[in-house]
Amino acid sequence: MQPQFKKEFIERYRKMTDWKEFREACTKRLKRSIRINTLKISPEKLIKRLEEKGYKLTQVQFYKEGFYVEGEKMDIGNLPEHTLGYFYVQEAASMIPPLILGPEKNEFILDMAAAPGSKTTQLSALMENTGIIVANDYKYQRLKPLEINLQRCGCKNVLVTISKGHKIKNMQFDKILLDAPCSGTGGIAKSLRTLEIYNTDMIKKLAIEQKRLILTAYSLLKPKGILVYSTCSIEPHEDEAVINHLLKNTDAKLENIEIKNLKSSEPVLEFENEIYSSEIKKCLRIWPQDNNTEGFFVAKIIKP
Ligand SMILES: C[S@@+](CC[C@H](N)C(=O)[O-])C[C@H]1O[C@@H](n2cnc3c(N)ncnc32)[C@H](O)[C@@H]1O
Repeated sequence: MQPQFKKEFIERYRKMTDWKEFREACTKRLKRSIRINTLKISPEKLIKRLEEKGYKLTQVQFYKEGFYVEGEKMDIGNLPEHTLGYFYVQEAASMIPPLILGPEKNEFILDMAAAPGSKTTQLSALMENTGIIVANDYKYQRLKPLEINLQRCGCKNVLVTISKGHKIKNMQFDKILLDAPCSGTGGIAKSLRTLEIYNTDMIKKLAIEQKRLILTAYSLLKPKGILVYSTCSIEPHEDEAVINHLLKNTDAKLENIEIKNLKSSEPVLEFENEIYSSEIKKCLRIWPQDNNTEGFFVAKIIKP
């Protein structure tokens, strides 16, 4: 089915990017990708097993445990290796925020909006099951898939909490991931429903919540702590404007994000009569047409 773009959407995106390229990327089928769960198996062993079953895997160019599933056989989520937690079916761009957070062994980490756990399980693997990750989400029905994924992937360093993110208090974390609830406009190729429900009022409401969540997340960081803010939205109100709000209201600093072999685009520095701090250039804006992945926005924030 072809995506039906609303007039307001086309007008908005024409101003920000090459509309033709963007539209084309939204109509292409997204490449399927998996992240190998090193808590359970080595990449070499799993690749061998899957190739013996006729799957063709190619390296995600910017993540050593990430692989695209190419060729005829795509039904990878039904394999026993999936049930055993040897891999997680995860969109390639979604592997970036934990990579940028760079959790280290024995750290105390908050994953503020964690369900269904693709990034929590990735953080747990990067920490080799040490330290503590508080995996929080506020939707009760999303905790079940989160817990199933944590068990399946053998993550023993995770504590699950249910709370609205802005109500978390009296804690100080080394690092925080805020993979914020968003409109998902970076993932139109994955779900056309994003376009059906799209409207600018909804974007404004989401931005209010995102600003509230990022201020709380920042307040929960230890000095020298790191906060990564990410969305799979490419709406400036949900991305650059949220970071601009944080910079205006706190002493937060941004750090440049560079990822080898990943194409990214200039962040938006001016949108609908608002001019954002030039510091925001340090953030990562990935359009779906840049790498044939989902669109993503990632900011790396440091507390002085
Ligand atoms: C983009 S999804 C997170 C995806 C997850 N990080 C992953 O990689 O699998 C956003 C999540 O935020 C949760 N959420 C929405 N509003 C929230 C709030 N105020 N506080 C905490 N979580 C919230 C939603 O239930 C949803 O699970």
